[in-house]
Amino acid sequence: MIMKEIKREKRQKPLIVIASNRGPFSFQQEENGSFTVRRGSGGLVTALGSLAERYQVLWVAAAMSDEDRRWAQSNEEKIQHVEGIYLRLIQPDPDAYELYYNQIANPLLWFIQHQLWDIPRSPTINAETWQAWRDGYAAVNRQFAETIADSVKHTDHPVIVFPQDYHLYLVSGYLRQMLGDRVQIQPFLHIPWPGPDAWRILPKGMRDAMLYSLLGSDRIGFQTQRDAFNFVQTCRFYLPDAHSLGSRNSINYAGRKIEAKAYPISVDVEQLESLVEEPEVRLLRSQVLNNTGDRKLILRVDRVEPSKNILRSLVAYRALLENHPEHHDRVQMLALLVPSRMEVYEYQNYLREIMAEAGMINAEFSDELWEPVRVVVGENYHRAVAALQLYDVLMVNPLADGMNLVAKEGVLVNQRDGVLLLSEDAGAFYELGEHALIVPPFDIYSTMEAIHEALNMSEDERHRRAEALRELVRRSGVRRWFQHQVEDAMQALR
Ligand code: ADP
Ligand code: G6P
Repeated sequence: MIMKEIKREKRQKPLIVIASNRGPFSFQQEENGSFTVRRGSGGLVTALGSLAERYQVLWVAAAMSDEDRRWAQSNEEKIQHVEGIYLRLIQPDPDAYELYYNQIANPLLWFIQHQLWDIPRSPTINAETWQAWRDGYAAVNRQFAETIADSVKHTDHPVIVFPQDYHLYLVSGYLRQMLGDRVQIQPFLHIPWPGPDAWRILPKGMRDAMLYSLLGSDRIGFQTQRDAFNFVQTCRFYLPDAHSLGSRNSINYAGRKIEAKAYPISVDVEQLESLVEEPEVRLLRSQVLNNTGDRKLILRVDRVEPSKNILRSLVAYRALLENHPEHHDRVQMLALLVPSRMEVYEYQNYLREIMAEAGMINAEFSDELWEPVRVVVGENYHRAVAALQLYDVLMVNPLADGMNLVAKEGVLVNQRDGVLLLSEDAGAFYELGEHALIVPPFDIYSTMEAIHEALNMSEDERHRRAEALRELVRRSGVRRWFQHQVEDAMQALR
């Protein structure tokens, strides 16, 4: 029924299929059995809200909870219409999903791509890793591809498939086998793509499977030129039959040319600018203000994620308090942290280390009126936006990051001409670096000095930098980010 509806509507327009591990909505079941939909706060979801007006969008994602699974089973239709988007949830076998998400995607691929391994000790690739690759990662990727192929088999519209991120590297190859050339396949990778050396950790069998699958795509989107270039180099280095024929941004393989192109992601400017006016955000803003008083606010907003380098920012803050006692009781550091991937040991441990370091700083420097660091653990996007309006200094110092949207959200909504401290290894550096204070992520001394410089910066300079940053973000936006990708795919369809 729904497929017929998709067929009938907008006949000449392409069917756009987004595939991602985490979907745009989560579902909660009420006592009367009905479901309420919670819309994810990600920019991609909002961008697609507007695209749905112009295109037919089918989103294929994994059910992440029992309630998601119950929602998926609650209707005979495999595809359901939710808030303007056609949604189909796949329901992987829980054991396969565990291997895919908690053994391969998050520890292994994420750690390689952010170069987080302590390589004398880990990782160890053993029989379990191989089993997790075959029975988890490959199996779930195949299930995604089969679901996509099944969803588009009856449509006579042009089809463009956009698999998102490192969870789905094998989808392009499977889909090409299943559907041949009748679809455009255009993955977008939200995270950094390191140079060839980093990939030596992944065994050849896994690496080849992943790279050849990606070369089944028509075009691959990256956050920055650097990532796109690194991808081309990685293919050239490891695959004897992949060539770049003098090009820095494409690979020739099996008679086809696959482009590697940068599409830097951005935030939903309109949505954020209206969000700051909402009563809940106003209330949370006054709570942050009450806690900070007239002290300067040094803020960070992150998932509890080793690549975000939260720990070194605390150590740099401690060094600031040791070396520049004039800031005592005049600054307040606030870290808003969302727990993430707690099944992975390194993440659990990282949270413990953060809490211990914050505790030590408070034990050493606090007095009756001043608690130098506050760490708030929990997910509250409204509170994050409220705090971003109020920072004097925003710390964004990742070891590696695809983009780091917090930097863009921050400079857009901030009301205090706050200073952005930005790592040269965040994707955002390439667009925002000129007007930020740059921090080398491993260098605690320079980070401390940058905090000090930001706290002492003249109002004029703060204003000039903040205005320039705001303008840069206003001119981008997540709709344009997606629109560019659709236009490139459409061009190839003509
Ligand atoms: P990543 O995608 O690696 O988590 P980004 O900075 O690109 O990092 O995006 C994170 C998103 O999650 C942003 O929209 C940010 O506002 C939101 N977010 C991060 N930390 C928190 C938090 N502590 N509370 C609420 N939202 C958060
Ligand atoms: C990063 C990744 C996304 C992922 C998100 C949250 O932004 O690029 O693909 O969805 O982190 O991680 P999670 O494991 O909770 O989905």
